[in-house]
Amino acid sequence: MIMDNYDQVSLRGAEEILNQIKKKPDSVLGLATGGTPIGLYEKLVQSYQSGNVDFSSVTTFNLDEYIGLPAEHPQSYSYFMWNHLFSKVNIQKRNVHILPGVFNNEQEMITRFEKKLIDCGGIDIQLLGIGTNGHIGFNEPSDHLTVGTHIVELAYETVTSNSRFFNRIDDVPTKAITMGMGSIMNAKKIILLANGKSKAEAINKTIEGKVSTDFPASFLQLHPNVQIIVDRDAASFLVEKGANRISV
Ligand code: F6R
Repeated sequence: MIMDNYDQVSLRGAEEILNQIKKKPDSVLGLATGGTPIGLYEKLVQSYQSGNVDFSSVTTFNLDEYIGLPAEHPQSYSYFMWNHLFSKVNIQKRNVHILPGVFNNEQEMITRFEKKLIDCGGIDIQLLGIGTNGHIGFNEPSDHLTVGTHIVELAYETVTSNSRFFNRIDDVPTKAITMGMGSIMNAKKIILLANGKSKAEAINKTIEGKVSTDFPASFLQLHPNVQIIVDRDAASFLVEKGANRISV
């Protein structure tokens, strides 16, 4: 879906999530952080404040977290989620699942997270952003992709790009823990948001490129229920004008 601007991308993405919660009040949402979904979270908060949505039965799982940052660190993804969404709506703390950036037993923590995901019946709708290098979650380009939750070395491009949120590039963690490609691909529905010229090449490769571990987002071509919602800038490198392309 090609929207006029970022605000429309955020609104369209928020509508997908709101419809999902309306249809199934105990929906399981897969959530992303980063710059892209901030507008969408604002729309969800506005909708909650207007009395149009109830998060009390909603469960969430976040895609990823930086290794080494405790939940209370202002750049942690846990902090991001509470700041932008969770503290502003009536979600129950026990229904929020975010991988910890600091832990004692890696295997035990991963097993617990994945078991919760299975016990909840899987993700109804997974929200994704995309890295300029094609990463989704922090599944970075590689000669192989990992199915389950795992620790990754962040690509140099990712560290550079995320340094805009830190004082110095040296402060950006170089490792993260992320849901794997299998967990993402298991979601019943996926919505990927992107805006701006810097994402145009990535969106082109996601939709029109070959499916390759060198560009993880290209695997979304194999998922039966994906919506890619972009602004005109992010859509500007698309070549094919397929029948399933909607310009709004
Ligand atoms: C964040 C995540 C990442 C981001 C991606 C784009 O939880 O999983 O894949 O979605 O790095 O980040 P922004 O939106 O900052 O361009």
